[in-house]
Amino acid sequence: MDFLKTLSSHPSIKHSSRDNRWHYLGLVNEPCFEKAKGPRTDRFGLWLDARSKDCPADPFENEQKYPGVKIGARGKNMPVGSFYGYATGIVGLRLFPNPDFDEAAAKKWDAEKYYTDPNYYNDKNLIRPYRVGMSCGFCHVGPSPVKPPTDPENPQWANLNSNPGAQYFWVDRVFFWDKDDASFAFQLFHTSLPGTLDTSFISTDYINNPRTMNAVYNVLPRLGPALRWGREKLAGGGLKNKQFQDFKQTAALSQFYKAPDTVMTPRVLKDGSDSVGILGALNRVFINIGLFSEEWILHFNPLVGGKTITPIRIEDAEKNSSYWNATVNQTADVALFFLKTAKPDQLKDAPGGSDYLTADKATLDRGKLAFATYCARCHSSKIPEAPANVDESNWNQYWAWTKTDCPRNDVSP
Ligand code: HEC
Ligand code: HEC
Repeated sequence: MDFLKTLSSHPSIKHSSRDNRWHYLGLVNEPCFEKAKGPRTDRFGLWLDARSKDCPADPFENEQKYPGVKIGARGKNMPVGSFYGYATGIVGLRLFPNPDFDEAAAKKWDAEKYYTDPNYYNDKNLIRPYRVGMSCGFCHVGPSPVKPPTDPENPQWANLNSNPGAQYFWVDRVFFWDKDDASFAFQLFHTSLPGTLDTSFISTDYINNPRTMNAVYNVLPRLGPALRWGREKLAGGGLKNKQFQDFKQTAALSQFYKAPDTVMTPRVLKDGSDSVGILGALNRVFINIGLFSEEWILHFNPLVGGKTITPIRIEDAEKNSSYWNATVNQTADVALFFLKTAKPDQLKDAPGGSDYLTADKATLDRGKLAFATYCARCHSSKIPEAPANVDESNWNQYWAWTKTDCPRNDVSP
């Protein structure tokens, strides 16, 4: 796995370049970029996409905003950076100056050999000029269902949406720029269907369970059931998570945490496994995609496992990682972003979508019953009101009431 290569359009990378990223990798080309025509002198000779001349600057590459701050600038060849890194040409991947790339590393650096000489690029001591950082958008941005791009390799921002999920993401191809069918790791990732990923493959649980980057829709309505059924008691390290009332902008959401130890959680993830509450769940994802990886990998053997997994302690992250602290400070904003933007895209608004819809009441009713009978128990967050003789606060009683006999025989599958 070498994201710098996955990002490159050098001819030595046989399978992919900016020309076919969507079709081959299922990754989204960032609007306003062009394919590298050759080595970029401002990128240490790497063949990385370049921003089109007529496009506005990346708002996050604002170097003036942080005067004098040299991110990872140990060697004098290092450019002044930004906390958010540089855009790469792939949505969700950002380029960060590698703090280990000092003058000695710069002397050894040879971009052409990096692309063409296996002795050079396979050397585990090779220090690359950049690290590649991953944002949520890498796996969650996809083409807008209601405004899809005419050419999927060249979308505009208006054609992209952060909710549907990267449903065409080929994890085996993304992780193996030079796929080798004989490699066990390649075979493992090759079992993932497009649009799926095993989120516990690095901090392994020894189960190969790739799942879809499902659409994140209807976040606001999903918070209702959280207040009704999502009560969880925190204990131990989980108590150290920040809660909505700790931030000015989310103080109004304070009902999702009751001091000293109760959260009301919408139970995200397919199996509803989240139980630490909303902000804790969001912060956990940043760790899972690489934040403070220096600590992360002290707690297990990446990918292969083999030693007992130990908890990553929030107090250690607070003490040792400015990235953790900066991220925690912004996670409340991420929650607000989801609340505001995670709204459904309706089939009626998609091009040609209305052709699939009917106003025929009998058909709609039958669909509603079929959905209720066969799908809703997993695919709906709506919970029926219990009748007066059922005590909603008593889970066992409520659960017994929800159970019915076999599917109704008036709705055959
Ligand atoms: C490497 C790919 C990847 C990245 C990067 C990623 N996610 Fe996810 N995300 C997934 C997958 C896969 C799932 C589905 C997991 C499951 O259901 O078990 C998921 C599920 C979710 C869900 C739950 C959706 C639901 O309906 O239950 C939320 C919320 C979420 N991600 C937010 C984030 C945030 C915030 C970030 C950035 C900090 C992020 N993700 C980064 C792959 C990714
Ligand atoms: C027992 C629980 C369960 C039932 C019942 C169920 N599903 Fe699912 N469904 C799931 C899970 C879990 C997934 C996600 C699988 C994955 O991650 O690969 C899923 C995925 C899907 C997807 C793909 C969603 C995506 O984002 O890619 C669709 C569409 C779907 N189900 C429709 C249905 C329909 C229609 C029914 C009723 C006929 C139904 N399901 C019944 C559990 C269920």
